Amino acid sequence: MTKTVAILGGTGHEGPGLALRWARSGYKVILGSRQAEKARSVANELNQKLGKNLIKGEANAIAAQAAEICVLTVPYKAQEATLSSLREVLQGKVLINVTVPLQPPHVTHVNLPPGGSASEEAQAMLGEGVRVVAAFQNVGAAHLANDKDTIDCDVLVCGDDKDAKAEAITLAEAAGMRGFDAGPLKNAVAVEALTPVLIGLNIRYKVKAAGIKISGIK
Ligand SMILES: NC(=O)c1ccc[n+]([C@@H]2O[C@H](COP(=O)([O-])OP(=O)(O)OC[C@H]3O[C@@H](n4cnc5c(N)ncnc54)[C@H](OP(=O)(O)O)[C@@H]3O)[C@@H](O)[C@H]2O)c1
Repeated sequence: MTKTVAILGGTGHEGPGLALRWARSGYKVILGSRQAEKARSVANELNQKLGKNLIKGEANAIAAQAAEICVLTVPYKAQEATLSSLREVLQGKVLINVTVPLQPPHVTHVNLPPGGSASEEAQAMLGEGVRVVAAFQNVGAAHLANDKDTIDCDVLVCGDDKDAKAEAITLAEAAGMRGFDAGPLKNAVAVEALTPVLIGLNIRYKVKAAGIKISGIK
């Protein structure tokens, strides 16, 4: 069965590249937004790149309702409000959290949020009925933007549900990367904390998409 993936807050930098890659590899993709019109407009631009109408746009709640797998790509400061408005509709689903707890303007500094990590906070907010998985935090939007490019970055996947982690690993592969089971959701703190380190490397070495690669595993 073709799975439907909703990318909540998918209209920004990170969501569109993931949407293009997943749509090309056969997923049904819905971009979510606070404004359905904005989501439809970004979806139209992506469909033009694809040359086919594969991506839809909807308000976040409608997108989440229609999907088996939801992916959250909002700034950390928006995570709590976004998830509290979607708590009911997300029950029974997998939520892949891409959110990194950055604290602008210090985006090159590791910030540990009160709940341990953004993904553990999401799990605590949503309750056990939602299987939260942390993934894709180390993949820069610049990497994803040209959806035909190979991505020189691996995806570390943390979560407490094996099947939910398997979905995220399959999505990493569908987007052209390797995905690895990186342990329980409490390990998300390490993965989220790598992102400000990578942003700092981008700035210091004048590149756009520093990433991570796991050695020793084929
Ligand atoms: N950009 C990257 O390279 C990258 C890489 C790895 C991880 N991440 C993480 O992925 C997440 C998304 O990154 P991004 O660069 O795509 O973010 P972004 O472009 O700043 O925002 C993504 C979307 O979130 C929604 N949003 C923004 N402010 C909001 C608010 N106050 N309340 C509710 N929704 C709001 C907007 O959607 P609507 O206006 O359509 O609702 C926006 O298009 C972040 O947590 C980031 O740290 C980003």
